[in-house]
Amino acid sequence: MALTPAAIKQEFDILVIGSGAAGLTLALRVAEFGSVAVLSKGDLNQGATYYAQGGIAAVLDAEDSIESHVRDTLSAGVGLSHPDIVEYIVANSAEAVSWLVQQGVPFTLKQTALAATSASGLGHDLSSLHLTQEGGHSHRRIIHATDATGRAVFEALQARAQAHPRIQLIERRTAVDLVTQRLPGATQKVCVGAYVLNQDTDTVELIKSRFVVLATGGASKAYLYTTNPDGASGDGIAMAWRAGCRVANLEFNQFHPTCLFHPHAKSFLITEALRGEGATLELPDGSRFMHNFDARLELAPRDIVARAIDHEMKRLGCDCVFLNISHKSPAFIKQHFPTIHARCLEFGIDITQQRIPVVPAAHYTCGGIVVNKQGATDIDKLYAIGETSFTGLHGANRMASNSLLECFVIAFSAARDIAEKLQGTPLRANIAPWDASRVTDSEDEILVAHNWDELRRCMWDFVGIVRNDKRLQRAQRRIEIIEQEVQDYYKRHRVTKDMLELRNLALVSRLIITSALQRKESRGLHFTLDYPELAEAAVDTILSP
Ligand code: FAD
Ligand code: SIN
Repeated sequence: MALTPAAIKQEFDILVIGSGAAGLTLALRVAEFGSVAVLSKGDLNQGATYYAQGGIAAVLDAEDSIESHVRDTLSAGVGLSHPDIVEYIVANSAEAVSWLVQQGVPFTLKQTALAATSASGLGHDLSSLHLTQEGGHSHRRIIHATDATGRAVFEALQARAQAHPRIQLIERRTAVDLVTQRLPGATQKVCVGAYVLNQDTDTVELIKSRFVVLATGGASKAYLYTTNPDGASGDGIAMAWRAGCRVANLEFNQFHPTCLFHPHAKSFLITEALRGEGATLELPDGSRFMHNFDARLELAPRDIVARAIDHEMKRLGCDCVFLNISHKSPAFIKQHFPTIHARCLEFGIDITQQRIPVVPAAHYTCGGIVVNKQGATDIDKLYAIGETSFTGLHGANRMASNSLLECFVIAFSAARDIAEKLQGTPLRANIAPWDASRVTDSEDEILVAHNWDELRRCMWDFVGIVRNDKRLQRAQRRIEIIEQEVQDYYKRHRVTKDMLELRNLALVSRLIITSALQRKESRGLHFTLDYPELAEAAVDTILSP
């Protein structure tokens, strides 16, 4: 239910920070048991979920098996994925898809099912969903809504949440920090709410709740070039760290191999499903190159494909490589990839006839806040789900379309856990309101704008696809200066959304670099020229505040 600002309460049973796939799913699953607020920094659809293209990995085909999906995930994760969590998430994939179908997500159907549905006017079961292919998967197991799966999922879940009497969707609210208390005799701190910037009134409000769920997405905005929307500034990771939670494996930033290369196309992804349906990667002279890097060619896991492209671009000094699907019929291309076809046409590229210029770009944060199978963090009553969390699923490299799956399955288990504990959890009183008595209005916005740019370029240049210690140490020195400047500025000025995002990005960037410097090997997405070999033991990088 969307409310006018004046009608918004400041107390809820469950406060969900984030309105993407993870946050909306949890809200819908838990609302039967208590009142829920879902916050988003901008419009509800501004998270990464809305932009997801390829789909959701799930074992639905009779020829496929849970063991095979588990094996592929473990292999893409290069020894670091936690087998128990991989098995749990994959085993629950069909249930997640079934729930999404019940919520009304219009997944693409097989041709045969389409004909039967239109003839009979009946609904469809899971075996009628069309399955596409993506890198690292040894079977066709990606369900999708043409090439705009995230939008279809988001719209269905948003409509359900909007209609729910116990869910309030609250836009233009940026959580600043979590509120925690240490109760007498308790070993663990407890989370009792959050301070939230109301962007309509420019004031920071206290929202009290029995449970807080971070569903704030990833931190790919730390990089100059990214497929992610602007809000991907690692807010949840930073808030959880400041509150006292451990974080893990932040050195594993996934770079998607194929982002459209065009001066006016801000971060437009070209889905891996194009390669799944036969698109080839080519150099400017038209020759293919993936056979020099991996026997799986264009469908090797992402770390391998992105590194191969980076290598070829540096070797040839070229600005981009090309993705070519023009050998498929125009009808096939328009039916399977209508969004990409239309978007590329806006830039004068007809993908039915021409090659698509592409470059790698930061895409997904594999590490995050350490959680268990229920999404519970190190702080009592604080949960983290979706891209902000670290469950152990992705290891050193996330396999395509496993992240939306993780959002749903862990949101389900977190909702169950919260529902069970709700009765015995009181709402805490005596929480101090936000103190803005010692700050003034910002007088120098250029510091924020400049540091945003400098940080993102520094991370791109020194903490990118190929790393070495010297570059990482250089980045560390610069990021520490930026972090200090932003922290001084934060203490003296009234908070703004941009300032909060920069503060969080500076902290998360420092954690990324610290993690990268700790890993003395090359594994999956973390490739360093100083330690090009794989270490014998696969060990997570866990940082404690
Ligand atoms: P998001 O959807 O990113 O939502 C984050 C939410 O948190 C937003 O509502 C935001 O406003 C809110 N928020 C953040 N900080 C704050 C704060 N401080 N205060 C209040 N609110 C806050 N994965 C797949 O599995 N399959 C795909 O096909 C696929 N394609 C992708 C294509 C693109 C272009 C991108 C960018 C990603 C893709 N991914 C895909 C990854 C996947 O989309 C994301 O991992 C997933 O959607 C993350 O969902 P989430 O709910 O965790 O966060
Ligand atoms: C894509 O469609 O290529 C993105 C899929 C993903 O990130 O999982």
